[in-house]
Amino acid sequence: MERPDCLTCHDPHQSKAPKLMQAFLHDPFASKQCDVCHQPAKDGKVVLTQASAKEICVTCHADKAEQIEKAKVQHPGAAGDCTDCHDPHAGRSPGFPKPNPVAVCLGCHSEQAEQGKKQHVHQPAFEQGCATCHDPHGNDNEHLLRAKAPNPLCLECHAPDRKPQKLEGEHLVTIFDGKVKLPGKLLRQSSDSAARVWPGPSSRTSSGLGFGGSEGSDPRLDPIGIA
Ligand code: HEC
Ligand code: HEC
Ligand code: HEC
Ligand code: HEC
Ligand code: HEC
Ligand code: HEC
Ligand code: HEC
Repeated sequence: MERPDCLTCHDPHQSKAPKLMQAFLHDPFASKQCDVCHQPAKDGKVVLTQASAKEICVTCHADKAEQIEKAKVQHPGAAGDCTDCHDPHAGRSPGFPKPNPVAVCLGCHSEQAEQGKKQHVHQPAFEQGCATCHDPHGNDNEHLLRAKAPNPLCLECHAPDRKPQKLEGEHLVTIFDGKVKLPGKLLRQSSDSAARVWPGPSSRTSSGLGFGGSEGSDPRLDPIGIA
């Protein structure tokens, strides 16, 4: 059998869980229900309980398979197996995209891979991950955006009155009505660069662009601060 990549399941430095387990664990893996997905290995090879990983995944996540098949705007990249994008066990970020939330998309999206080499890249696109703004399983919106149009998408993080929800007991916040989970540590950004691009709600409102925002709130937006 090919040697498994130790780092899909283990963190090399530290962990809050015993045995240096990765930061984010898939529920049935964490509860050691290995046999939901695995039969005893044969000749050193992994033997799954179903013919494909996807058939196993949909026994618990039927809603996702349905979304992929029935979404108004479909994503051809999601037509294959769930494990094309997800590690079945664990990962360094929520949802366990493999190998990480950016590269998981770049293998097929070479145009964006080229964009990632530019000097100035947008932090969510090349750190937090493409699925911050796009639903990879398909949805109702053009370009699979998480909002009906680009402006409300941007304002999810760059509007003064938007506050991401903290998830109890985890160092995570959620945006887009709970659809996107982000590690809190990635979100505590300095607000300097945002201040340059976002001179403040009052100046924008007077420019007639119709951006919302309450007077008197801190114009130097921490885009997705969790103050
Ligand atoms: C598919 C997930 C997975 C992969 C991949 C994996 N491990 Fe583990 N590893 C585990 C689990 C689960 C445990 C904890 C078992 C337990 O709690 O009894 C563990 C435990 C360990 C332990 C502690 C054993 C003990 O008895 O305390 C070591 C050391 C270890 N793994 C090393 C590695 C190395 C080295 C690799 C890469 C060659 C690797 N693991 C790959 C899931 C994995
Ligand atoms: C939700 C289903 C699921 C659960 C639960 C699960 N596995 Fe897996 N495992 C898979 C799949 C699917 C693969 C095949 C690898 C792939 O397609 O990425 C795999 C592969 C492996 C491999 C081969 C190395 C690798 O990472 O590809 C090891 C080792 C392994 N699993 C150990 C475990 C252990 C130990 C447990 C329980 C603590 C466990 N698995 C629980 C689905 C699961
Ligand atoms: C035995 C039932 C079961 C199976 C089989 C299963 N899952 Fe899960 N999965 C869960 C549970 C329970 C959760 C945690 C609750 C939730 O988010 O729905 C979860 C959560 C997830 C999450 C979200 C984690 C997060 O951070 O929100 C992903 C992604 C996921 N599963 C992918 C898969 C994939 C891919 C497979 C197939 C390899 C699979 N699951 C198979 C039960 C299962
Ligand atoms: C297995 C290959 C594959 C993977 C992996 C993949 N995609 Fe795609 N994606 C495609 C294909 C093929 C299309 C349709 C052709 C096109 O628009 O580039 C597409 C289309 C899209 C579109 C719609 C483009 C439009 O103009 O409407 C978006 C957005 C998108 N993908 C985002 C993502 C994101 C985000 C990820 C990672 C979570 C991802 N893709 C991973 C293959 C993939
Ligand atoms: C094209 C890549 C891709 C494919 C294929 C894919 N996913 Fe996902 N999925 C993602 C990414 C990326 C995320 C976002 C992780 C995050 O940031 O929370 C995600 C999130 C999830 C979540 C948790 C958040 C949510 O949206 O509910 C579940 C559960 C999930 N996927 C299950 C599945 C299952 C089951 C399949 C197969 C039927 C599948 N995914 C196929 C890329 C993919
Ligand atoms: C900050 C939000 C955001 C993030 C993060 C993001 N995108 Fe987009 N993406 C958009 C918007 C908005 C559009 C629509 C652009 C338009 O209408 O011209 C788009 C369009 C696309 C398209 C359609 C083709 C195009 O260029 O118009 C693809 C494919 C795509 N994105 C892939 C990706 C990939 C891959 C990543 C991760 C590297 C990513 N996106 C990250 C917001 C985002
Ligand atoms: C998921 C949250 C999120 C979304 C959605 C989002 N951004 Fe951002 N944006 C950020 C973060 C985080 C930074 C980095 C702030 C920092 O470095 O202090 C940033 C920085 C920026 C910058 C400054 C870049 C620089 O180099 O200083 C601009 C301009 C920007 N975003 C525009 C947009 C636009 C346009 C959209 C909609 C297409 C958008 N953002 C959507 C989180 C987001």
